Amino acid sequence: MAIRNIREYGDKVLNKISKEVKEVDKKTRELIEDMIDTMYYAGGVGLAAPQVGVLKRIIVIDVSEEGNNPIVLINPEILESEGEQTGDEGCLSIPGKVGTVTRPNYVKVKAFNENMEEIRVEGTELMARALCHEIDHLNGILYPEKAEGGLRDVTEEEDEG
Ligand code: NI
Repeated sequence: MAIRNIREYGDKVLNKISKEVKEVDKKTRELIEDMIDTMYYAGGVGLAAPQVGVLKRIIVIDVSEEGNNPIVLINPEILESEGEQTGDEGCLSIPGKVGTVTRPNYVKVKAFNENMEEIRVEGTELMARALCHEIDHLNGILYPEKAEGGLRDVTEEEDEG
């Protein structure tokens, strides 16, 4: 287990487009384990590989209350989205800030798991928001680009991804 350094807003790596993963080798497995550890350590509900400086299309998400149910998505693609939700969003790469972002209220995603088996994941509300936010990271997009009315300081502990 290793906690990796989270790249912060302004680091150019966060604006780059990540590359498709062709196979999950030992190095990729280590990366995934480290991403999960780093997400929990930082208290986030999601993390994308470029946030630890690796331009691979891998995200990890855990929106569970217990924080012990990580989902790993490799090469994720949004297949369907429905509805709308407007709410506060944060990012581990932009500590101490939140912004108001409108996202779909439901998304269905196609991806691969750690064994490169195709999976489908769907979610509403926070899960849908996390999926959209993390997939945006793989395309070099950070939430401030989508935030209405700029960023605000976090006053109390809020979810960051
Ligand atoms: Ni983020």
